[in-house]
Amino acid sequence: MARRIAVVGSNMTDLVTSIIRMPAPGETLEAPAFAMGFGGKGANQAVAAARLGADVMMVTKVGDDVFGQSTIDNLKSNGIDISHVGTVVGQSSGVAPIFVDESGENSILIIKGANNDLKPADIDAAAEDLKTCDLILMQLEVPLETVYYTAAFADKHGIETILNPAPAAPELDPTKLEKVTFVVPNETELALLTGMPTGTDEQIERAAHSLIAKGIRTVIVTLGSRGARLITADASTMIEPLKVRPKDTTGAGDAFIGSFARFYVETKELEPSLKKAALYAADSITRPGTQKSYATSEEFAAFTASLKA
Ligand code: RIB
Repeated sequence: MARRIAVVGSNMTDLVTSIIRMPAPGETLEAPAFAMGFGGKGANQAVAAARLGADVMMVTKVGDDVFGQSTIDNLKSNGIDISHVGTVVGQSSGVAPIFVDESGENSILIIKGANNDLKPADIDAAAEDLKTCDLILMQLEVPLETVYYTAAFADKHGIETILNPAPAAPELDPTKLEKVTFVVPNETELALLTGMPTGTDEQIERAAHSLIAKGIRTVIVTLGSRGARLITADASTMIEPLKVRPKDTTGAGDAFIGSFARFYVETKELEPSLKKAALYAADSITRPGTQKSYATSEEFAAFTASLKA
């Protein structure tokens, strides 16, 4: 039976505009294309894990608008258990206007909407189902009190956790995260979390070790096109990237984390799971969109086979 993963986190509707450049203040500029898609860091990670065959449940909140219902339908159609997806009356769903330039680089605004209503009481309401999970994933597009509460809940019940501290939140208190199993920041988030510089590999190591000294067992720093670095108390390992021509890098970090969760929970092998996750994320950026770009297990198997051919 597939291991069970829970995502306690956000969902958004991505409003994606392709741009040549950002308009200057006061300027009106024509953009070449627009597309809508399903996003939100929590939902993205849930969908990546589910498309790879994991048994996934999601604890999240949508608004009582058209985006809310289509988000629920989308989670369901990806095989995700939606028993703990709540609808907040009178609230809008989360939306993310996204701008993608010709190099595939993105700029994102988020309006959290109903994601702000995900509270510790929702974790209590989902507690019996959460206890059946092998791993819980969290991000920071929901209230911090809910993240701290979920981390404490998971620790109490012996469930491993992944925290992706994104988007960077200056008010995040690292002392409340000491029992998190894996913290997965990018360089900016690591700098904010530790108050230390992260401009060089040495600085990244030092900053990660300051988290390990606080009790976090494993830090995985995502480095964009440079890959990722796995740092534990006694080892530091580079996870090399696969070089591809990017079409759209939006959601690549979520593809990495969601697929890592799936690979890790099945095998408990850290480094091989991270290497596979790096391939999964690389494959995702060769296609436009966020969740739209995530491969199924069959598609991913074909992709990895093509690399060996
Ligand atoms: O990580 C990418 C995601 O960030 C997008 O899908 C957007 O919704 C924002 O949450």
